[in-house]
Amino acid sequence: MNFARLFSRFGWLSTVYYLCFNASFRREQYSVLAGRTEYARALTAASGSSALLRRNIHRLEKGLIMRPRRAVFAEDYIFETVTALQTNILALEVAEREWALQVLTQYFDTVTDRGDIIKARNIFLSVIGQGLQSEQDGAAVPYPYADLPQPRVTYPDFFRLCQRRRSVRWFLTDPVPQLLLEQAVQAATLAPSACNRQPFKFIQLSGTDAATAAGFAMGTTGFAAQIPTLLVVVGDLSAYPAERDRHVIYIDGALASMQLMLALDTLGLASCPINWPDVEKLERKMDKFLQLQPWQRPVMLIAVGYPDPTGGIPFSAKKSVVQTLVPFSSAQNENNNAD
Ligand SMILES: Cc1cc2nc3c(=O)[nH]c(=O)nc-3n(C[C@H](O)[C@H](O)[C@H](O)COP(=O)(O)O)c2cc1C
Repeated sequence: MNFARLFSRFGWLSTVYYLCFNASFRREQYSVLAGRTEYARALTAASGSSALLRRNIHRLEKGLIMRPRRAVFAEDYIFETVTALQTNILALEVAEREWALQVLTQYFDTVTDRGDIIKARNIFLSVIGQGLQSEQDGAAVPYPYADLPQPRVTYPDFFRLCQRRRSVRWFLTDPVPQLLLEQAVQAATLAPSACNRQPFKFIQLSGTDAATAAGFAMGTTGFAAQIPTLLVVVGDLSAYPAERDRHVIYIDGALASMQLMLALDTLGLASCPINWPDVEKLERKMDKFLQLQPWQRPVMLIAVGYPDPTGGIPFSAKKSVVQTLVPFSSAQNENNNAD
């Protein structure tokens, strides 16, 4: 422990510590670097979804809703955006293609031409000139807040759902209907994600596969074998060209998982999130079992099934709002310091 304390005194010393004495971060570093390489490789290969395209189309959307909207924007990335569209257009999933085509059409209708924008417009025109223009009109471009559907859920209803959603570990043997699972995943896909890249998948397992993968996790002792469906939330580090975004797979994966678990509850199903610790031996087992790529990392697992009504639910007292919500004001701090 004293050893660790010594190396924790400076940032550079802790780098030495983790390089020479402790390999805990090695896999993460490997995955992040493999992700960056895969990101670069994917730029020239057609795919159903392009991380660069998704990010840049989203940046264009933000430019389009800017107040006031600038006459010239996205000059520094519009060329790479239409190049990505051109590379991927034949392979793109319909929703992504429609979104990209419609947002780009609105962008080029709005922006003032100059420099790279003219070059990008020409590429875009050549893409849509091949008959690849949008097939739906006006459905995938920015719209005013007032057009959102009215909420039917009141706060008491939502709070009750939050109270009902508990980690359930004991399930009936009934299988999880695929349609219900897909409905829950549909709700999960609506979760926010950084630059709308949605860098995760839910890998669905059942039967002995579910038991085997659940058994790799450390927190499933005693209940792994009776989990009807197991979802392994897998993050994709190839969505990012730089290390700075290495945590986003965990954030986005967790936000979507929360929506998934709440949705499951509304469908009469129950779930339990399961920790996926970063333990090299376990990572290797899961990689091999699911045939993951080096840039794919499990974020967590989720057990899903019909709850056994007689199964116990730990009370798990929650922290209070006072402990959790911390109002902060820099002016207040300055006043305190002046006292
Ligand atoms: C990231 C995460 C990892 C968890 N890992 C486990 C686990 O390995 N085993 C388990 O039985 N429960 C696990 N849980 C469930 C928690 O124990 C549970 O959410 C917590 O005690 C609060 O209870 P509640 O979910 O019923 O509100 C995990 C929850 C989260 C969010």
